[in-house]
Amino acid sequence: MSQPIQIAVVGSGYVGLVAAVCFAEIGHRVVCVDNDQKKVAALQSGDTLIHEKHLPQLLERYRNTGVRFTTDLGEATRQCDAIFIAVGTPQGENGDADLSYVEAVACEIARSLTSYKVIVEKSTVPVYTNEWIRRSIERNGVARSLFDVASNPEFLREGTAVSDFLHPDRIVVGADSEPAAALLATIYAPLTSGAYYKRPEAIAGACSAAPPPLLHTSAKSAEIVKHASNAFLALKISFINAVSNLCEATDANIEQVARGMGLDTRIGPRFLRPGIGYGGSCFPKDVAAFRSVAEQLGVDFNLLTEVEKINAEQKKRFLAKVRSALWTLRGKRIAVLGLAFKGETDDIRESPAIDLVEMLLAEGCTIAAYDPAAMKRSMAEMPASQHLCYAEDAYAAARDADALLVLTDWREFVALDLQRLYTAMRYPIVIDGRNLFDPKTMQQHGFTYISIGRPAVYPVRDLELAASAAQ
Ligand code: UDX
Ligand code: UDX
Repeated sequence: MSQPIQIAVVGSGYVGLVAAVCFAEIGHRVVCVDNDQKKVAALQSGDTLIHEKHLPQLLERYRNTGVRFTTDLGEATRQCDAIFIAVGTPQGENGDADLSYVEAVACEIARSLTSYKVIVEKSTVPVYTNEWIRRSIERNGVARSLFDVASNPEFLREGTAVSDFLHPDRIVVGADSEPAAALLATIYAPLTSGAYYKRPEAIAGACSAAPPPLLHTSAKSAEIVKHASNAFLALKISFINAVSNLCEATDANIEQVARGMGLDTRIGPRFLRPGIGYGGSCFPKDVAAFRSVAEQLGVDFNLLTEVEKINAEQKKRFLAKVRSALWTLRGKRIAVLGLAFKGETDDIRESPAIDLVEMLLAEGCTIAAYDPAAMKRSMAEMPASQHLCYAEDAYAAARDADALLVLTDWREFVALDLQRLYTAMRYPIVIDGRNLFDPKTMQQHGFTYISIGRPAVYPVRDLELAASAAQ
């Protein structure tokens, strides 16, 4: 194993916590800093706080040894060679990223800088943030020779963040100075050299066969790589959603169309799943921030406005589907499966599922919701009420429902016992915003099944009745 580096990660959220344990996993000594005392205490005592595959096992392995948790950024700064900033960059008023947390962290680091450090932006930030961090540290009286600022964007998907970190498609290092680039190359050497993947206890994944490339760019290019990548993926989703709407208008099938497109290696099959629109803490915020950066720089990037428009429209179209299946909404009892912004995570930030629940409540529906991991967070945001209850499982949610909506692509939903669901419901109507089920199977189980970009199917019995009525 190559040389262990002393690393500080500031921010122990979805990004920082995963980065911290993964740096420990590849052999470094990490101190994870957060200004939320409660969070730090919980992490110190072994609570993982977020639902993320492999995280509990890595935390168990490194907690208070390879990874320490603290609120003391000054001490962490003095002890470490590299400081990764992974604090939140929420959306500001005009769509631009609010960088006040990043600035606050930079100023605090400045106060403790006494020997050379590399400060690395890990949070998603707009182009020029590197420059601003540098300026703000200098303004606090730190000599330029004592630090460098670099950009090392993360490309972690929630739910698979640990294996995305350890098995990345690429590692992007945006550094304008040689010492900073060299330190980051050393930090990632266990991955780029392939040494990590040879360890018997290594978490297996795509890079076990071929180690990932490290791309060295300028700091500004790295900042743009991150925003452009997320914006492009969001665009891909809006594009397929628009095509799915076209399929609905023509009775074509989006699954066939997406497969036909995705087999073209220039397009690729991933991120072509239609649905109720993208959500999460990254895509909505990053598309808005990238648009805002372009605007400020006088660059016409209206394409991004269209991406956002299609995304917002997708939720309204889904609501219209529910309305047209049920005729009227007031007083209807709706089962909702899924609250997280996507499957395999407990994160509900910018979740289209939560937006839809709120829209349905505003229409006067009564909702019984179930999510395998996101109910605690949902309850904090949308407390249970006379019109909203949280069910203990999918079947309890479906009980006496006028319709069941699938809003999150949890793998466990695919394995549901359809017969049991059918029996539980008052009317067997399923409106699937994630295309989790095969229409034919749903039809055979007696459901009216409406999904995205695919022809709706009706129970065989209903079709026979309609045919005999027509004779
Ligand atoms: C966030 C951003 O949303 C994302 O765009 C960026 O790439 C990385 O940071 P995430 O990890 O999901 O991603 O954010 P969050 O879960 O909010 O975690 C941020 C952490 O930073 C919190 O634990 C918060 O307490 C901490 N924090 C925030 C500090 O330690 N200091 C601060 O000044 C502000
Ligand atoms: C994303 C990026 O993928 C990751 O590289 C970046 O660092 C952080 O933002 P994440 O937000 O965790 O990751 O989830 P992702 O899997 O990208 O999904 C984002 C949203 O798009 C979800 O709401 C998901 O349901 C939706 N989506 C995704 C689709 O609707 N269709 C698809 O084909 C893919």
